[in-house]
Amino acid sequence: MEVVHTIPELREAVARARADGQTIGFVPTMGCLHEGHLSLIRRAKQEAGFVLVSIFVNPTQFGPNEDFSKYPRAFDADQAGCAQAGADLIFAPSTEAFYAADATTTVQVAGVSAGLCGEFRPGHFDGVATVVAMLFNATQADVAIFGRKDLQQLAVIRRLVRDLHFPVRIIAHETIREADGLAMSSRNRYLATDDRKKAAVIPQVLEVARKLAQSGVTDSAQLCSAATRLLAAEPAVRLQYCEIVDLESMAKVPDISGRKCAIAIACHLGATRLIDNLDL
Ligand code: PAF
Repeated sequence: MEVVHTIPELREAVARARADGQTIGFVPTMGCLHEGHLSLIRRAKQEAGFVLVSIFVNPTQFGPNEDFSKYPRAFDADQAGCAQAGADLIFAPSTEAFYAADATTTVQVAGVSAGLCGEFRPGHFDGVATVVAMLFNATQADVAIFGRKDLQQLAVIRRLVRDLHFPVRIIAHETIREADGLAMSSRNRYLATDDRKKAAVIPQVLEVARKLAQSGVTDSAQLCSAATRLLAAEPAVRLQYCEIVDLESMAKVPDISGRKCAIAIACHLGATRLIDNLDL
């Protein structure tokens, strides 16, 4: 497995793989890889001959009061994980190698970016859409794998690819969960031991909503209030939002009948913000 840090090196490695007749699979990450990321890499390996992983903590998707400087970084362990999961190349640029010092171009995916996390993290999805567009251009990947856990990010990227005609196929990979159901996230390691145990209520309330939906309840307000009532029983978990949204547009749906939709939730435990979702 090769590691490169600049765009010319990346392009050369990709050109070599293409000259060997390989298709390019891509897994964009911000590093600090856990089993969820490794399963994306393994999935990429099933979809393409040559798998490229980017490791870049993208400053433009963090707000001024967010955790950019303390976002966990673990390059040596990441390298070992990528190799073990079957990656062929890591692209790990510095901010200076990736963004021009006076860059002024941004990509905004209006609408899809507006609600849910977009409401509470202004500018976040502009940063994500911009860096992912840059990564698609830099890597020229044929297929890219994204986790379903970041539901709104997935919808933003699908729309970006559709609207701007990026020649890349997007694959959504299932959310990988801990034994107690908590969705894997690099931010889980911020949780104090006690909070970590309490965080298991998050997937439980989503399951409650799903079971209710399966039993025939279609009213979104009723489904959300059943979920949030249960969450309120654990005061350490502070709800930021609980919404039922259309999977493609991320618009709120008042009734789930005949729609492809998901229940999405964001909450805080201490200073740590966690998100999760479940298809209904
Ligand atoms: O999901 C992430 O880790 C990031 O948002 C991504 C897609 C790598 C862009 O920085």
